[in-house]
Formats: sequence, C-alpha cells, structure tokens
Amino acid sequence: MVGLIFVVLLPSLVLGQNLSVPTTWRETNNTHNLTERISIAKSAINTILPQLNTSTAQFDGIGYWQSANVFASMANFDHFANSTTYKSKVIDGLTTAFRLYPNFDLNQYNDDAMWWATAAYYAYRAYGNSSMLSMAVTTWNHVSNYVVTKADAQSGTQPNKNFTIASTCYGETMAGGVFWRPTIDDQGINSITTGLYTTLSAFLAETTSNATYKNAAILSAQWIQNLQISDSGIVLDGVNAVDCTRTPASWLFTYNSGKFLEGLSVLKDITGAANWKSLMTNITAAAVKSPVWQGSNGIITEGASTTSDNDGVGFKAIFIRGLEEVNARSLDNSNLQTLIESYIDVQYNALLDLAANGTSYSPSWPGPAQQFTSWGQMAALDVMVSVVNSTTP
Ligand SMILES: *[C@@H]1O[C@H](CO)[C@@H](O)[C@H](O)[C@H]1NC(C)=O
Ligand SMILES: *[C@@H]1O[C@H](CO)[C@@H](O)[C@H](O)[C@H]1NC(C)=O
Ligand SMILES: *[C@@H]1O[C@H](CO)[C@@H](O)[C@H](O)[C@H]1NC(C)=O
Ligand SMILES: *[C@@H]1O[C@H](CO)[C@@H](O)[C@H](O)[C@H]1NC(C)=O
Ligand SMILES: *[C@@H]1O[C@H](CO)[C@@H](O)[C@H](O)[C@H]1NC(C)=O
Ligand SMILES: *[C@@H]1O[C@H](CO)[C@@H](O)[C@H](O)[C@H]1NC(C)=O
Ligand SMILES: *[C@@H]1O[C@H](CO)[C@@H](O)[C@H](O)[C@H]1NC(C)=O
Ligand SMILES: *[C@@H]1O[C@H](CO)[C@@H](O)[C@H](O)[C@H]1NC(C)=O
Ligand SMILES: *[C@@H]1O[C@H](CO)[C@@H](O)[C@H](O)[C@H]1NC(C)=O
Ligand SMILES: *[C@@H]1O[C@H](CO)[C@@H](O)[C@H](O)[C@H]1NC(C)=O
Ligand SMILES: *[C@@H]1O[C@H](CO)[C@@H](O)[C@H](O)[C@H]1NC(C)=O
Repeated sequence: MVGLIFVVLLPSLVLGQNLSVPTTWRETNNTHNLTERISIAKSAINTILPQLNTSTAQFDGIGYWQSANVFASMANFDHFANSTTYKSKVIDGLTTAFRLYPNFDLNQYNDDAMWWATAAYYAYRAYGNSSMLSMAVTTWNHVSNYVVTKADAQSGTQPNKNFTIASTCYGETMAGGVFWRPTIDDQGINSITTGLYTTLSAFLAETTSNATYKNAAILSAQWIQNLQISDSGIVLDGVNAVDCTRTPASWLFTYNSGKFLEGLSVLKDITGAANWKSLMTNITAAAVKSPVWQGSNGIITEGASTTSDNDGVGFKAIFIRGLEEVNARSLDNSNLQTLIESYIDVQYNALLDLAANGTSYSPSWPGPAQQFTSWGQMAALDVMVSVVNSTTP
C-alpha cells in the first residue's frame, strides 16, 4: 500500500498544480462563434456608453477607478478584435481625465492613478498612440515615489512618509511594496497597488526594453510572492508598513490574485524565469478553484450587490482580465488554457443565461436578471471582451 500511494502521488509532485477542470462547473463550453462573441461584447459596451459624461470622463453610477476600467474594457475589446471601434472614445476619455486629474490621481490614491495609467497602457497597446504611453509613463514615475526601495527597507525610512517603516515583516523584506496612498501619514501597503505597479512595470518593460521597469516589476512581484500568498495559494490583501499587521483574514478578493496574475504573465515573458511561470500557474489553479468567491458550479458570487454600487462589484472583472492575459500568454500549456477558458466560459454562460436582461447584466452573476445598472454592466464587460479571444469554437 505504501508503495502504491507513492506511485499515485509522484506525478502531482513532478507536474505541479492540478489543472483539471472540475466536473461540478456549470457549462464550461462556449457555443458562440467569433462573429457572435464580437457582437455580444459590443452590445454590452454600447449599453453603458449613454452613462459617459464626456466633460468629466466619468460614467454615471460608478466610481472613479471603475470608470477607468470601462475605458480599459473598450481598449481591450479593440485589442482582441483587432479593431478601432472605440478608439476615439477611449483616447478622448483618457486625455480628458489626464488633463483634469494630474497623474490620474483624483483623490490621493495610488491605486486609482494606476488603474487609469493601466487603461492608458491598454489604449497604447490597442491604438499605438504615443500620448497614451506618455500618460502611463508619467503616472508610473509619480507612483514610483511611493515604492519601498531596497535602501528604504534597509534604513527604515521612506522619503514621502513621516514615520519609521518596518524593514522586514514576517522575516521578509518590505522592499517592493507600494503604498496604497501618497498621503504622508498613511501606513497601508497592499497587494492591489503593488500588483498594479508590478503589471504596469512589466508592460512598460516589454514595450520599451528599459531595465528600470523590469527591475521594478521583479522587486514588487517578489514582495507579493514573499509576503502575500495565502496557505491556499491565493493573494492576500494588505499589510501595515509600521507594525506589519495584516488586513482581516476574511479579506480575500478576486482582484488581488487577478491583477498579480496579469503582471506575472508579462513578467515570465520578459524574464524567461521559471519561478514566475510556476507561480503564475500555481496561483491560477488555486484562484479559479477557490471556494471563497464562488459556488461549486464555478460561478463567481463576489460583489453581487444589486441595489447599489460598491468596490467589490468590480473586483471580479479584474480577475477575469488577468486570467485572460495568462491565457493569451500560455500557448505552451494547453491544460492551463483549457482551465482558464472553461472558467471564463462558466462566467459567460451564467451572464447570458442567468443574469441578462437584453444586453444589460446583473452584478449578481448567478442571477437573477434585473434592470440595467452601471455597476453591473461595468463588471460584465471584461468577461464579454475576454471571450473574443477564446480559442473555441
Ligand atoms: C508551484 O507548485 C508546485 C507544486 O506544489 C511547487 O513545487 C512549486 O514550488 C510551486 N511554485 C512556486 C513558484 O511557488
Ligand atoms: C484534480 O482536480 C480535479 C477537479 O477538481 C479533481 O476531481 C481531482 O480529484 C484532482 N486530482 C488530484 C490528484 O488532486
Ligand atoms: C465541451 O467541449 C469539449 C471539447 O472541446 C467536449 O469534449 C465536451 O464534451 C464538451 N462539453 C459539453 C458539455 O458540451
Ligand atoms: C455564427 O453564428 C450565427 C448564429 O448561429 C450564424 O448565423 C453565423 O452564420 C455564424 N457565423 C460564422 C462565421 O460561422
Ligand atoms: C457632466 O458633469 C458635469 C460636472 O459634474 C456636470 O456639470 C454636467 O451636468 C454633466 N453632464 C451631463 C450630461 O450629465
Ligand atoms: C489586424 O488588422 C490589420 C489591418 O487592419 C492587419 O494588417 C493585421 O494583420 C491584423 N492582425 C491580426 C493579428 O489579425
Ligand atoms: C493621440 O492622442 C492625442 C490625444 O491625447 C491626439 O492629440 C493625437 O492626435 C493622437 N495621435 C495620433 C497619431 O492619433
Ligand atoms: C505626520 O503627518 C501627519 C499629517 O500631517 C501629522 O498629523 C503627524 O503628526 C505627522 N507625524 C510625525 C511623526 O511627524
Ligand atoms: C527608463 O525609464 C525611466 C523611468 O521612466 C527613465 O527615467 C529613464 O530615462 C529611461 N531610460 C532610458 C534609457 O530611456
Ligand atoms: C489570444 O490568445 C492566443 C492564445 O490562445 C494568443 O496567441 C493571442 O496572442 C491572443 N491575442 C491577443 C491579442 O493577445
Ligand atoms: C429588464 O429591464 C427593463 C428595462 O429597464 C425593466 O423594465 C424590467 O423590469 C427588467 N426585467 C427584469 C426581469 O428585471
């Protein structure tokens, strides 16, 4: 018996994560051809466009960071569809926002600035407009002032903070962590701000080949790898830079894993390092099967707020977007691609079958359908856009 157990366990130790698709997931296949998927994605985007106030670049009914993510979805639609359908709307919106809100920082949040800067990067990727790249770079340089450098960690000081920071937490260096807010006395460092910074750094490194960005991406990814991975393999939320206290153990949100996965997918490509590919694969396998935010049918239940907007509604969109970037960059791992596409198709089929009212979608993906809300629509866009790049049918 001992020998048998050894033989049975060995393959999983050698091969790493279990990438098989759970049989309990609901509808893992996509039955819509490319023409239909493009049409469904466009209709979903067009359904939120009447909410856009072009003088503020904001969508009525959702928050500042969420508006950035509507522009991100439009740019990514054109990226995957190889089209320019939303080019002028995206470029005009981002240009307006950058003019009104210097460094894209409306209200002293580094993550807000990075959501918009990332949207500007996607716009550059989709349309090749160099003003979009400059906006991303300018904002990156601004937020870089709030990164804990190696020297900061050693000295226990950060030039833009007026308190002593911990050099290490839980035995790991704090170098690479990014402060959530620029405010001089705010002590929070979190995975979303650091994950956004990792991802934008990696994209800028890939685009410019400038080693400054690559080194920044590696340092911040190391911070998350060393400090922020839970026992079950998903990404934790935040750490206090002074006393190392963690956010509550119940703060497990899809977007922390999703944004870091997006960054890792680019980082493994620009470095070729096995560690990042392995970490990306492991976090993907853990996150798409995490019972924390979905039922055994695989449909995400996080942020199902039907009567009012809140931040959590938009987290799942970021998760799906990050998974799609992993999918697009994993031609060498068909099991991983099948797992991710199955998971995204589960969400797609749930939205179409259980949560749709015409071309508008409930923020509750398991349903039921309801009337249009800006936040429900915003959250659905990344699913609609991601399946444009499905390999099947
Ligand atoms: C990924 O998981 C495998 C299997 O558990 C493990 O051997 C490997 O060290 C993990 N990779 C990373 C980077 O943590
Ligand atoms: C791998 O995952 C599948 C689907 O969740 C499950 O049925 C199977 O038991 C797992 N295999 C191992 C070796 O853990
Ligand atoms: C989904 O597609 C796979 C092949 O891509 C096929 O083997 C499987 O039977 C399909 N499942 C359903 C439920 O249609
Ligand atoms: C896609 O599906 C639609 C609806 O089933 C069908 O009318 C159309 O011919 C299909 N297009 C292609 C290119 O297969
Ligand atoms: C757009 O926002 C501005 C500033 O808040 C406001 O004055 C204007 O009425 C809004 N326009 C529309 C069409 O809602
Ligand atoms: C994208 O479209 C352009 C023309 O609009 C074409 O030259 C190019 O080959 C297309 N790229 C892909 C990957 O299909
Ligand atoms: C790029 O976008 C800017 C707006 O920020 C615009 O002025 C410029 O004409 C665009 N460039 C091209 C080549 O389209
Ligand atoms: C840090 O700045 C805050 C806000 O300006 C201030 O209230 C606090 O006293 C300062 N702390 C130190 C140690 O200087
Ligand atoms: C690399 O990027 C950094 C940050 O934007 C910039 O300061 C530096 O000038 C760039 N280096 C080169 C060679 O372009
Ligand atoms: C779409 O996904 C495929 C992998 O299935 C990838 O090769 C391709 O680059 C992706 N397209 C884009 C625009 O990322
Ligand atoms: C669908 O949307 C319409 C228009 O907003 C609304 O009147 C209707 O009640 C909605 N249907 C459901 C099932 O909520």
